[in-house]
Amino acid sequence: MVLRRLCPLVLLVACGDDTIVEPPPPSEKELLTVAEGEPMPAVETEFIGATLPANATAVGALGNQVIVGTTVGAHAGLFVPGSQGAAGSIDTLALGPAEARVNALASFQAGLLVFMPGSVGFTSGAPVEALADAEPLAGLGVTEVTSRKLASEGASHMLIADSAAFEFDGEELLDWSIPGETGAPTAAVAREDLLLIAYGERLYEIDRESKTGVAVELEVGRVNAIACESSSCDESSTLFLATERGLCVRHSAEAYTLYTLTNSADEGTSVRGFALDTVSQRLYAWSDSALLQVTSDAIPRKIASLEPASLPRVGAVDAAGDLWLASGTTLSRYETGVPLSFATDVLPIMSAYCASCHKAGIKGAPPIDFEDYGVAKSKSDRIVARMADGTMPPAGSAAVPADKFKVVQLWAAEPSP
Ligand code: HEC
Repeated sequence: MVLRRLCPLVLLVACGDDTIVEPPPPSEKELLTVAEGEPMPAVETEFIGATLPANATAVGALGNQVIVGTTVGAHAGLFVPGSQGAAGSIDTLALGPAEARVNALASFQAGLLVFMPGSVGFTSGAPVEALADAEPLAGLGVTEVTSRKLASEGASHMLIADSAAFEFDGEELLDWSIPGETGAPTAAVAREDLLLIAYGERLYEIDRESKTGVAVELEVGRVNAIACESSSCDESSTLFLATERGLCVRHSAEAYTLYTLTNSADEGTSVRGFALDTVSQRLYAWSDSALLQVTSDAIPRKIASLEPASLPRVGAVDAAGDLWLASGTTLSRYETGVPLSFATDVLPIMSAYCASCHKAGIKGAPPIDFEDYGVAKSKSDRIVARMADGTMPPAGSAAVPADKFKVVQLWAAEPSP
């Protein structure tokens, strides 16, 4: 790895230029507050637990293996399906260096980057090796990472560091400092075309190309985490905010929806974090008491109850689609890796991108109820063909993120319900 550090690409400050341009006034955002509404159907997923040697700080997945970062190093848990029936068992194997605290983990090439205080390592399931040339990364004090898959095989990582958010694509390090903000951001995500960076209750939306941004006025309290609904996070992907007042969905620059997850629109439940299944593109979020599956067009669905935990929860999804959550010394695996189905995976896509015209047969669209399983299944060839040639949804309507289209293709290709 040859690491090049670029001169800071600071918001509203030209590179190598000291003139700070006054930020434009905050734009008005529409914030639609939605209470829980219908009680969320609880689908208790089975889970198995394991006890960690120290408190968990980060979780990453390598195939069917999970790597848990703790206050005293990285520990690999290998899921062994088997003798005790579906529950299986977890073998823990320690990964050196034993004493170093792990602050964050991020997928990198065939392994994981391991961010520790003052150093960065790499593991592919064997003991953590020091990364040569990683000095600029090591000095940043990275505490959290969100990643985006690039069209060119690799990945781009948004690093939440002590002094700012940085973007790292394996070679170049971009500095996304914001004038007037010091200290660590609380959350950040990078989409193909824009970045969202939060410093507590203050949220900034930054246009990648012009490197200009606006402060977003939203009354959602502290922003704890931000996630993208698809692994490539292309321009049409919806962004989600885990906030003190609930789950907030960014539909566009002007329209955000806040789900307070209580039956009161004034209060709210704090949402803490996210994990994305990069195969089925299912996005999970968690509050202190519930595990949720979130989609861009519907009320978040509760899929399991969680015991209140005194330490923060961290999580990741493994190659089988199962979600692993760790808090304190407890690691739990939730069996979310059920096969693709119309109701769970395809219906939300049809509702968000196709039903607006086809349900009522408006804008010249033939009235076809793509939200009906039988109809969608019988027309799956046509659905895939028209989405593949880029003619549906028609130009001018919101495009379907590429990873979401792959989910429709996978579903259509197999006789899944
Ligand atoms: C802005 C309105 C609009 C949206 C949104 C839209 N369509 Fe269409 N659709 C049309 C119109 C108009 C036609 C008829 C003209 C044509 O075939 O191009 C059509 C025709 C079709 C047909 C042809 C019917 C057939 O049996 O061959 C299919 C299939 C289709 N759409 C699928 C989809 C899918 C899948 C989505 C969502 C990913 C979608 N459409 C979203 C307007 C829309």
